Amino acid sequence: MIIRRRRPGGSVERAGASAPALPTLPVTRGRGLPARHAALAVLVRVVQGGFADVLLGHRLAAFPDPADRRLITRLVLGTLAWQGRLDYELAQLSARPLESLDPEVLAILRLALYQIRITTRIPAHAAVDTAVTLARTTRGGSGAAGFVNAILRGTLRNPLPLPNRGKDELGYLAAAYSHPRWIVERFVAWFGITAAEALMTANNEAAPNVIRLNLARGEASRLIEQLRADGIDATPTSRLPETAILASAPALNSRAFRDGLCYPQSEASQLVAAVLAPPHGATVVDCAAAPGGKSTHLTEMVGRIGRVIALDLSHSGLRKVHSVAATLGHSNVATIRADCAASIPLRPVSFDYVLLDAPCTGSGTFREHPEIRWRLEPQDFARMALLQSRMLEQAAMLLRPGGAIVYSVCSVAPHEGEGVVKALLRQHSDFVVDRSLASDNRFARLIGDDGFMRMRPDQGGLDGFFAARLKRIG
Ligand SMILES: C[S@@+](CC[C@H](N)C(=O)[O-])C[C@H]1O[C@@H](n2cnc3c(N)ncnc32)[C@H](O)[C@@H]1O
Repeated sequence: MIIRRRRPGGSVERAGASAPALPTLPVTRGRGLPARHAALAVLVRVVQGGFADVLLGHRLAAFPDPADRRLITRLVLGTLAWQGRLDYELAQLSARPLESLDPEVLAILRLALYQIRITTRIPAHAAVDTAVTLARTTRGGSGAAGFVNAILRGTLRNPLPLPNRGKDELGYLAAAYSHPRWIVERFVAWFGITAAEALMTANNEAAPNVIRLNLARGEASRLIEQLRADGIDATPTSRLPETAILASAPALNSRAFRDGLCYPQSEASQLVAAVLAPPHGATVVDCAAAPGGKSTHLTEMVGRIGRVIALDLSHSGLRKVHSVAATLGHSNVATIRADCAASIPLRPVSFDYVLLDAPCTGSGTFREHPEIRWRLEPQDFARMALLQSRMLEQAAMLLRPGGAIVYSVCSVAPHEGEGVVKALLRQHSDFVVDRSLASDNRFARLIGDDGFMRMRPDQGGLDGFFAARLKRIG
């Protein structure tokens, strides 16, 4: 359901004509306390270091109604995305520093203010009442409830202006678009103000729920029929036959997922394996494979007579690769634990297809993982680029002349994308960028003149990814 913006009794938005437009968000009305309880529990665990998508995956299993799942997902991801803007206001209304508040009380305040300021279908007084009820169940009991009530009533009475854009543009952008100031500074330096604002706007919107159909289990149209029979409303997309968009957040414990008919994976992530495009029967080395999204996608491409060798530093990650491959019905994925930044335990110059989907900052996935933006630190882009360069150097050496490697990251930072690839090309004249994909319709508008594939949520709605296909020529 699409909703309009709400401005109860005046709001942050009203404070300046230049305030950016808030998105319309799909929020269902009247889903009640259990949904808020579930959202709050996830938000508190995220503050303790958990990942929202993983925690949501567990929580949503208890909610069979898709409308509840949609609401909980939006409340959690929306509150995390808008946290900077919400805290900007809460900090001015609270006599105590926000860091000193009980984490549960702070999460209740953020959740309520998100509903008051950003969503429009939930009446402000209902959001306040629910927050007060939730606060009563915390350790602080009625004291916490009184505190929450006082602050939230204050938000209804006292709309606060955003920082003055003319005097402090970065401060304004950081509060208005709810991103850390240092990240705003980077986005503006990399893309310019207009594109940075478009990117941050998109980062605060809901990402589509995308799955990869397991084409090893049948044709796309038949799989979509089976999903529909299981109550999952899936629609095919135009780029790859295996990509489909769901109408709502999936219940991962549903039969279709348990039986391995599909796997949750963003469209941008699916395009990475399509860029490598190993033929039927090929052997592929995946140098950073866990949890196995791209490894299993590649397995579906090479078929039963092909093979995927999945490497990763993480034991538990490799166990996950095993279990994903088993669920999808693939027996030809071999896993090996390896630190691919140090050395790869495979014979060099022996493979035709290699993927390095490197560990990265995740700055292209702020929609699905809004908490990442609050966890990153200014040195992370350079730190990751160093690790990625070491890994690409090792991975590239596996290739035989004529072979192809795809390097990818789910980041929009140029350091982590083209910076890493160009460093390899400077060191190794026997590698070139494979530009042949530029004429492939499936990648239309995604591949630049330099042959690099760049995706951004504000440019076509895909996650922020970088991918380059390199060939070894000598
Ligand atoms: C972006 S994730 C890979 C996602 C995976 N390709 C997929 O599609 O499901 C990056 C992976 O790199 C692994 N990793 C980090 N450092 C590594 C290293 N030095 N050697 C090998 N793997 C590493 C992490 O454990 C993580 O699983």
